[in-house]
Amino acid sequence: MKALVLAAGSGTRLRPVTHTGAKQLVPVANKPVLFYALEAIAQAGITDVGIVVGPSSDDIKEAVGDGSSLGIDVTYICQDVPLGLAHAVLISQDFLGSEDFLMYLGDNFVGGGVAAFADEFRRTRPEAQILLTPVPDATAFGVAELDADGHVVSLEEKPPAPRSDLAVMGVYLFSAAIHEGIREIKPSARGELEITHAIQWLIEEGRDVRASVHSGYWRDTGNVTDMLEVNRHVLDAASGEIAGEVDSESQLTGAVRIAPGARVVRSRIEGPAVIGPGTVVTDSRIGPHTSIGEDCEITESHVGASIVLRGSTVRGVPAITASLIGRHTTVTSAPAGDTTHQLVLGDHTRVTLAR
Ligand code: DAU
Repeated sequence: MKALVLAAGSGTRLRPVTHTGAKQLVPVANKPVLFYALEAIAQAGITDVGIVVGPSSDDIKEAVGDGSSLGIDVTYICQDVPLGLAHAVLISQDFLGSEDFLMYLGDNFVGGGVAAFADEFRRTRPEAQILLTPVPDATAFGVAELDADGHVVSLEEKPPAPRSDLAVMGVYLFSAAIHEGIREIKPSARGELEITHAIQWLIEEGRDVRASVHSGYWRDTGNVTDMLEVNRHVLDAASGEIAGEVDSESQLTGAVRIAPGARVVRSRIEGPAVIGPGTVVTDSRIGPHTSIGEDCEITESHVGASIVLRGSTVRGVPAITASLIGRHTTVTSAPAGDTTHQLVLGDHTRVTLAR
């Protein structure tokens, strides 16, 4: 069995971070979200992995390389324009051949991995198998309707009036039959070749399409709220480790990971939290549920429930919360007496200032 990981796409809901980097590389507990997917694939015993990349291909290739550090062998497949999940499969035909494959959307986070799901497919060997999970609002997802015996009756992509609360997760298992479905479908109203439609075609042809309901943790990290929530979830399970320097005037509580080369001076770090290599935290409070990337400077500030990417500076800002701060960004307070806000913001940035 091969795996196909989809890491092209434009990541519009994570702008401006995705103007300069792939959304699949946004770090969760200081590790790119894509790496959790690749590790889950390796754990499922799959080593032959194709990664579909778009305009941010250089960043992804630099981060993942040939995959050997993760125990996999990676082939990159270039999708110039994100014309849909089924289009990504279509252009991966040479890599996939007629083999069974696990398709994994690179921005999805699946608690507990996918090994059990892959094993079930190997054992029962239907023509396609999807993973479903109940969500409060299914309108943003593919939605499945099941009959009383649990068979998939219909699939719809982002329906305004969902027929169930069962969202299609971004992990699929396919036999070569899916290629027939993809050849039959036309672009959807949003102009994409939808994998949901190709699976629906298989269902209408009477082919063996099965669904498993996932009861564990799952998030699509496509927006900031969900990205921060996954960060919280991963940090909650993380253990502490102090490899960097912490001075005697600092206080650490809960599970705190301080990477080698990081320094904490006269500060309080409330776990769960991670501080990346080369980062210096001075006279500040960090956490809980906060990931600070490498080579950052946090001075006289409080950052909580947030993700700060590498090379950023936060100075003299007393209360940053629920924030995603991109690479090499500077957030500072104005000089005393100056009550105005001075902003230099990238396109599609969102700022919420306290009054
Ligand atoms: O997260 C689960 C949902 O993922 C499913 O419920 C939906 O049925 C499915 O269509 C998909 O919906 P999204 O709108 O969330 O997909 P998105 O455009 O965010 O793309 C998912 C991943 O696939 C992301 O890592 C980018 C990548 N991608 C996307 C497109 C459209 C590609 O590699 N190529 C593409 O052409």
